[in-house]
Amino acid sequence: MTDRYAVLGNPVAHSKSPAIHAAFAAQTGQKLRYERIEAPLAGFIETVADFFAMGGAGCNVTVPFKEEAFRFANLLTERAEQAGAVNTLWLDDEGVTGDNTDGVGLVRDLRRHLALAGRRVLLLGAGGAARGAIGALLAERPAALVVANRSADKAALLAERFAALGPIRGCGYEDLAGEPFDLVVNATSASLAGAALPLPASLWRPETVAYDMMYGRGLTPFLEQARAGGAGPLLDGLGMLVEQAAEAFFLWRGARPDTAPVLADLRAGL
Ligand code: ATR
Repeated sequence: MTDRYAVLGNPVAHSKSPAIHAAFAAQTGQKLRYERIEAPLAGFIETVADFFAMGGAGCNVTVPFKEEAFRFANLLTERAEQAGAVNTLWLDDEGVTGDNTDGVGLVRDLRRHLALAGRRVLLLGAGGAARGAIGALLAERPAALVVANRSADKAALLAERFAALGPIRGCGYEDLAGEPFDLVVNATSASLAGAALPLPASLWRPETVAYDMMYGRGLTPFLEQARAGGAGPLLDGLGMLVEQAAEAFFLWRGARPDTAPVLADLRAGL
């Protein structure tokens, strides 16, 4: 029987995951099915339990269910524990394991553009997306990781929680003036609302890499803001999407797909 995989979310109609995993499967000669499943907002647990009961082998979980997936898993990987959120589940003899491949996906995509060791990195936001990235960012041994958030206390709490893993500190946007950063990563959901972040103009330098975890046809509102401020390379999250998928594919199938051509095709399709 062909193994069955899926992405669960709400909304999920525009998810690119089926196309990405189909491309990985074709590339590595694997036979599998991968579909979209829209879980009702109040019905994630029933939907995911049903998926596995009906023979599902593994699934990805996207907005807004990553915290519920964390609670659903019988076993958690260390990086899922750190993130407090799960985007990848699979079933084996021991039950359903939950992992989080978002952080490693971000870092693998970033590595295409710059080495993080010894760099000063600024992470904007202190919600689920930021939490999922911190462990992987610190593992790259940056000189400093500053987490800045609209509610500064949330950033400070997050920094405290990860303090054992590396040089991390939390603050509000107003505390950023005058500090130089090599890389600024947007992990807030402000772009969704088209809202600009209240960042000091002095943040941007011509060599600052600006990275938005979101992506779209043109520049996201955050990348537009970085461009207007005079930042250097402007990168969106399409590469992160492909890399987190590749890591999930590897966990499920034991094969590592070549992500570059898949990313190029997706980019062309935007
Ligand atoms: P996600 O899972 O996408 O991270 P979340 O956990 O709800 O979603 O977190 C949303 C993040 O975006 C938070 O850091 C939030 O800032 P606050 O903690 O201060 O609320 C940030 N955010 C959302 N809308 C924003 C806006 N208009 N301006 C600034 N920050 C915003």
